[in-house]
Amino acid sequence: MKRLISLKSGQKPANYGKLAVMKTTSKGGKVQPPSARSPRKVLVLHGPNLNLLGTREPHIYGGESLEDIGRQLAAQAAAAGIKLESLQSNSESELIERIHKARQDGVDFVVINPAGFTHTSVALRDAFAAVRIPFIEVHLSNVHAREAFRRHSYFSDIAVGTICGLGSRGYEYALAYAITYEPKK
Ligand code: DQA
Repeated sequence: MKRLISLKSGQKPANYGKLAVMKTTSKGGKVQPPSARSPRKVLVLHGPNLNLLGTREPHIYGGESLEDIGRQLAAQAAAAGIKLESLQSNSESELIERIHKARQDGVDFVVINPAGFTHTSVALRDAFAAVRIPFIEVHLSNVHAREAFRRHSYFSDIAVGTICGLGSRGYEYALAYAITYEPKK
């Protein structure tokens, strides 16, 4: 059963900033838009081979590990009082399943580096189209200055935006945007 919590304006729930998240319900009350709920939930997804960051072609992807990036994003999320979850997977199906679950979990925004799946995965693109959760596509490297096959993305045209070539800063900028994002009415 979902628990309803009623709060006066400006009052923070007891679990504010913790893992538990307020649910909204349509039963006998108003359904609040994501922007009115607290805290906002952002999901960061990292595609294949990004677990090797730090040692993987550092001249292209930089010397920071995925853990370094995760720590930075967690600090940024904590400072903003939002809930952040991250997942790296080398498996297309695991990423697709997580995107499906994001809808039920009430995720408001996704930041994704689809890595190699950027250029191959119609199925991952379809998952975003199906759940209709806004997302930003991030690439550490400037994919447009590399091999021709990296210039095509299955995500860019349905993304809120794309960031590439800024290294790990790209994730920070994407998260900063996600923190304040308001869907168009
Ligand atoms: C990448 C670029 C992709 O072309 C590549 O397959 C990756 C990483 C990037 O972050 O620059 O794995 O998404």
